[in-house]
Amino acid sequence: MEVVIEKLDHQFRGIGYINGKVIFVTKTMPGDKCEIEITKEKKNYFEGKVLRYIKFSEKRILPSCPYSSFCGGCDLDHMSYEDSLFFKKKMLEELFSKNLNYFESIFIESCEKSWFYRNKLHLKVVEGKVGFYESKTHRLVEIKECKIAKHSLNAVLKDFSMYSFSNGEIMIRTNDNDEILMDLITEDKIEILKDFLSKHKIVGILKNHKCIYGKPFLFERRNGVLYQVSFDSFFQINEEMSKKMFCFIKNVLKNFEKILDLYCGVGTLGLQLYKEKVLVTGIEIVPNAILNAIKNAKLNHAKNFQFHLGKVEDIISKIPYSFDAIIVDPPRNGLDPKTRDVILKMKPEKFVYVSCNPMTLIRDLKEFEDDYRIESVQGFDMFPYTKHVECVCVMSRR
Ligand SMILES: C[S@@+](CC[C@H](N)C(=O)[O-])C[C@H]1O[C@@H](n2cnc3c(N)ncnc32)[C@H](O)[C@@H]1O
Repeated sequence: MEVVIEKLDHQFRGIGYINGKVIFVTKTMPGDKCEIEITKEKKNYFEGKVLRYIKFSEKRILPSCPYSSFCGGCDLDHMSYEDSLFFKKKMLEELFSKNLNYFESIFIESCEKSWFYRNKLHLKVVEGKVGFYESKTHRLVEIKECKIAKHSLNAVLKDFSMYSFSNGEIMIRTNDNDEILMDLITEDKIEILKDFLSKHKIVGILKNHKCIYGKPFLFERRNGVLYQVSFDSFFQINEEMSKKMFCFIKNVLKNFEKILDLYCGVGTLGLQLYKEKVLVTGIEIVPNAILNAIKNAKLNHAKNFQFHLGKVEDIISKIPYSFDAIIVDPPRNGLDPKTRDVILKMKPEKFVYVSCNPMTLIRDLKEFEDDYRIESVQGFDMFPYTKHVECVCVMSRR
């Protein structure tokens, strides 16, 4: 079946039509003419995959990653970096104008280092082969290198065959000093190999989340702030873009003193805002991240910081203070309705929403429309060549 791709949807899938019914096709772009196979049929739409390109869009480029057509990690590497930014900007502008009557142009801060930027990889190991699962399957795509991962992670990947590790998962993270922290999830026997240690700056190895060598954390530095980050704590994966985003947020909140930092991770955003008079309260669900946050306040001599362990939706209503600014940085599923209600009742003057999922961002912001005016929206290309984009929306109370 032949389809001509006319535009992209919000997940950057190509949109075409079959007898007037819409079809979404991944890895395509406007101008592509392709032979497709229908993979899903719903009442109002189809989903399909490309069997053969009949004509390429003039804008299409050759993917630079050999695993691109299977792996599903870099959904946009068939377009130039500039075009990927163009489509991300267009997507955000469409969502904000259609849903929130916000018609301003949205700037997306670009990433100079658009390849080899990720500081964390989560790999699967199947019968001694290391790689990622093909998108929406349990079929392994064996990889020798990941073009979005930092070189220090790829160097570890190359040497991983030193381990006789046959089945399981590997989580590897690295930092701005190229140090390596690994968590190996497996029933296989794991030895600490001297040759491996001598080739990489290994700070810690864990097996099934238990430390078997070195320490279970590493340190990161962002804009002069030092962070301890445990193996299971969240930390922004793109050093360059996180620094730019933190500067932006710091500037927005520079005149605020009582700040509630929801989904605070290792105290990341709050500590960027540290200055003498600032009082920051953070809430986070991961115990090690809260321990990191407490440690990080000490490491950076930041007073007047307090952190609460637990679910934001359970704790937020029990916090007995008022705040003049609230910053939220939730996971992809966005804010819980209870959390939205309590924020509205708290009536902060400024409300900053950091989001990695524009769809849940828009859903949540609709609840704030009556009470808050959108001051600015800015994108940060935290995940180049993937369909993801980080977005910061700054709102002030009407
Ligand atoms: C996108 S990260 C942001 C972390 C931090 N603001 C940063 O910039 O590094 C989201 C954080 O929310 C935490 N989290 C997820 N669900 C949560 C919940 N229901 N309550 C509290 N924290 C949660 C995760 O563990 C993670 O640390």
